[in-house]
Amino acid sequence: MKGIILAGGTGSRLHPLTLSVSKQLMPVYDKPMIYYPLSTLMYAGIKEILIISTPKDLPLFKELLGDGKNYGCSFSYAAQESPNGLAEAFIIGEEFIGKDKVALILGDNIFYGTGLASLMQSNNDPNGGIIYAYRVNDPQRYGVVEFDEEGKVISIEEKPKAPKSNYVVPGIYFYDSDVVSIAKSIQPSLRGELEITDVNKEYLKRGKLHVSILDRGTAWLDTGTFQALMQASQFVEVLEERQGMIIGSIEVAAYEMGYVSKSQFKELAQPLLKSGYGERLLGILNKEI
Ligand code: G1P
Repeated sequence: MKGIILAGGTGSRLHPLTLSVSKQLMPVYDKPMIYYPLSTLMYAGIKEILIISTPKDLPLFKELLGDGKNYGCSFSYAAQESPNGLAEAFIIGEEFIGKDKVALILGDNIFYGTGLASLMQSNNDPNGGIIYAYRVNDPQRYGVVEFDEEGKVISIEEKPKAPKSNYVVPGIYFYDSDVVSIAKSIQPSLRGELEITDVNKEYLKRGKLHVSILDRGTAWLDTGTFQALMQASQFVEVLEERQGMIIGSIEVAAYEMGYVSKSQFKELAQPLLKSGYGERLLGILNKEI
């Protein structure tokens, strides 16, 4: 399975922070935001990853992440000329996807929880589409899922004024290769975007959409406002300092998934020792049981 990270957009809700630097490069405690979704894909067992961003920001992502070889992965890059919506990622990525299945993760979505990696690994060979539903307080900001009494999905609506439930779709999606033709067939919404919700609705219509509920023990963090960004940093800081572990580290993901050897992992830590981050990477080796 292949993976796409969509790290575009104007970040206007975080201006002036994001006037000159991409939102997905903002710090979330000790690492750039994109490390979190990238490590999530890596933990899902995905090594071939396409990073999509604006033409202006793309060079910065390339400088940060390179071709992925250091992490035992392959990273490639493509531009989204204007913010035409999430589903456009599959049109931009058509050649990259080819006949394979593909996961899309949004570059500003942070997931953390026990069992999440194995859940995602078990979902990485979909026949149709696999998405998640997560209970939130403010469903009107997201894609909202409506279930019937038996837990079957009846509808999905993008940012409804009157949400039919508190369950919303977080920004990680697994699809078979039909997703490319589906993305090409949908029309822009009123906000002028190719909506991922319309892709999901098409899979639902075909009877090929599987929605699993992410349990409350999973953290799905928002980074869309100053306050949410600060809270995400604090969440990571509290856990990392308390447990002496690292959340959202692409180096640790590469090592734990067996994409790099122990000596390659140590090499990754070397240039990062001064900040303390490298020390903490190496600390992982001492904590192995
Ligand atoms: C997008 C999707 C929405 C989804 C959300 C998850 O919203 O359109 O369905 O619930 O991501 O973060 P947007 O970021 O475009 O507001």
